[in-house]
Amino acid sequence: MDRADMLVKLYDLDDSRSFLAEQETRGITIRKPLGGEKQPVIDWVGKHFGDEWVDETEMAIMSSPKSCFVAIRENRIIGFCCYDATALGFCGPIGVEAPHRGNGTGKALLLTSLLDMKLKGYGYAIIGWVNRDGFGFYRKVAGAVAIADSFPGVYKAYLPGKQQ
Ligand SMILES: CC(C)(COP(=O)(O)OP(=O)(O)OC[C@H]1O[C@@H](n2cnc3c(N)ncnc32)[C@H](O)[C@@H]1OP(=O)(O)O)[C@@H](O)C(=O)NCCC(=O)NCCS
Repeated sequence: MDRADMLVKLYDLDDSRSFLAEQETRGITIRKPLGGEKQPVIDWVGKHFGDEWVDETEMAIMSSPKSCFVAIRENRIIGFCCYDATALGFCGPIGVEAPHRGNGTGKALLLTSLLDMKLKGYGYAIIGWVNRDGFGFYRKVAGAVAIADSFPGVYKAYLPGKQQ
């Protein structure tokens, strides 16, 4: 399978949140952006991950309550994760700036977002449009399983970006 949506059992997640303290020991804070931080977050996502994720991030930041988290180190954004951005119940997009990968920040952002969904009342989360490279990350961090016959799923009639 090259691409699929994945399902996460939110009720099975470890909710100790020890990953937040672990990130703090590295000088990294995971939190929701404040209202006045909308533009810096959008600009950062656009610079590192492109226009499509900008639109989804904007959806998540404009939700009330916000469904977006950022990772901050030395007063700079180094990662982000959104949910309810592509569709309700979907978690993602997620990204960590390349030089900062491999330090548990992606894991902390993903689990923080999933636990926020759990507290909101969701029983399951869906990770949309996962490619072959991403399956291992979601399986390892959140016990996600691929959903059979789920591609292109909700993206079946997706409109191309930046239409004339
Ligand atoms: C995917 C991504 C967010 C992971 O961020 P990260 O900060 O490097 O991840 P972490 O350091 O928290 O990794 C957590 C664990 O997952 C593992 N892992 C990370 N990426 C993995 C992958 N692609 N496949 C399998 N395991 C992976 C790590 O080895 C680590 O394992 P450990 O806990 O045993 O040490 C980051 O690589 C990224 O931004 N990629 C580009 C954007 C992207 O592809 N987003 C997902 C789209 S579906």
